[in-house]
Amino acid sequence: MLIHRLLTAAFLAVGVTVRLCGAFHAPTRMHRKIVCSGTDTVTSSSTASSTTSYSHLRTVDNDYIHQGGEKFQVGIAGAGAVAFATAAILSKNGHDVMLWSPSGRGTKDLHANLSADSHVNQRTDQTFLTASGAMDYHFVPRIAASSEQLVKENQVVLICLPANGHKHVFDELAPQLSISLTCKHVIISSHASLGALYLTKAVEQYQQQTQLQTKNNELNFPTITAWGTTVCTARRPSGTTVDVKSIRKSVDLCTIPEQESPSALKLCQSLFPHTNFQPRDGLLAISLSNLNPQNHLGMALGNISRMDKGEAWYQFQMTTPAIGRFLQGLDQERLEIARALGVDVKTIYEHFSLSFHVPISESISDMCQQIHKSGNDVYGPNTPSSRYITEDVPFGLVLTATLGRMVGRPALLHESGIMICNSMYGCDFVAKNDLLQSLKLDEMTLEDLQRAIRTGRNVVLDQQQERTPTSVK
Ligand SMILES: NC(=O)c1ccc[n+]([C@@H]2O[C@H](COP(=O)([O-])OP(=O)(O)OC[C@H]3O[C@@H](n4cnc5c(N)ncnc54)[C@H](OP(=O)(O)O)[C@@H]3O)[C@@H](O)[C@H]2O)c1
Repeated sequence: MLIHRLLTAAFLAVGVTVRLCGAFHAPTRMHRKIVCSGTDTVTSSSTASSTTSYSHLRTVDNDYIHQGGEKFQVGIAGAGAVAFATAAILSKNGHDVMLWSPSGRGTKDLHANLSADSHVNQRTDQTFLTASGAMDYHFVPRIAASSEQLVKENQVVLICLPANGHKHVFDELAPQLSISLTCKHVIISSHASLGALYLTKAVEQYQQQTQLQTKNNELNFPTITAWGTTVCTARRPSGTTVDVKSIRKSVDLCTIPEQESPSALKLCQSLFPHTNFQPRDGLLAISLSNLNPQNHLGMALGNISRMDKGEAWYQFQMTTPAIGRFLQGLDQERLEIARALGVDVKTIYEHFSLSFHVPISESISDMCQQIHKSGNDVYGPNTPSSRYITEDVPFGLVLTATLGRMVGRPALLHESGIMICNSMYGCDFVAKNDLLQSLKLDEMTLEDLQRAIRTGRNVVLDQQQERTPTSVK
């Protein structure tokens, strides 16, 4: 314990000195980065040894730091479970991580005193972020005092927060991204409701405004990469700790503009060398490959009284034959829409079989009972305010239903599910999707949409902007 305290004190002293002496985004800083492994080893060079284990990784490569792979300064928008866990993985991989909490609440326990000048990140006290579970690791992240600092001081920005906050955060980041010469890449983890398209447009609009104001021809336009899911699953028990439940073996991705896909893939592999990134054919493939919204709808509607009463229930065990048939019906609608769009996606049967290692059967309920018996079941939500409804209905189901109408394959079960949720929750979940409303998807032709998801160009908004040059908001 005493040794731990002494090492921690030494770490903090050296860490503060490094921060006060060094330019925050000087490349050399990363080589002087203090690395502290999960076994309380403290060293002050990039050749730090590490015995941290990655139990869920496909290929275990604990010596990545020794391999001299390119190291990046990475800013993370968000300070919840996924943000903390992703930050820990990045830091363990040798990258220099900064966290930004939009309200400041998410990072308040990680730093005690910011400098009076909020743009200067000089801390007089620092706290470890500690990851446990699938990895044991702790480190001191940089903390951004503002979205401006996040973009200014990092080469890559990752969006790690619920879709309900994406538009708000994109609106904050867009002005910074439109002028930043440092930050060239944005990664949305995980992507929802064509958010990459919204961010592209928002940056472009600010870029045009800036061009008008400054006559600066060297404007920046970041590459935007959409991930189908997060690189990890996690819970955040406190403001300084994260329980990493799993680190994914594989994550789907696509990039806007399309021609930047090879460089974006290379970047993702450098940031997360233990995850296998699978390029997909555009944002629609990414969106329609996400089975969570449909599966969560079936599980939640079938167990809504359990959620209301705060009961504990296993979600696969409770996927009874009736709920299973509902999931199969929802899946059929998603598959038909994907087929009409020429997008290749997995069926719910393939998804459960691959994710939970159970044999494919004709009945989804049977497969779910197998998942339960194999010990891979998880608790369903014990509150009605779960993101199974509050995030997945507006940002998942609403997109699928909208696409269904666009391609002439109305997704009646999806539409009905949204209406039932509207009625049960006393709100309009369609209206809660602020991204799709801003993109004016309902005014686009299918051709417009197909072009937009490859190039970032949204002709409906372009035309609207020509008529009234206002913001995308
Ligand atoms: N956790 C998992 O295992 C898991 C697995 C798969 C997918 N995902 C997905 O990954 C995303 C992040 O999940 P998470 O578990 O990290 O969520 P979380 O812990 O609830 O995220 C909290 C963070 O999001 C910010 N935030 C929440 N609502 C916001 C809003 N309306 N505007 C601006 N910021 C907002 C919070 O801001 P403040 O700091 O200002 O409070 C905080 O930094 C979600 O889309 C989730 O569905 C998560």
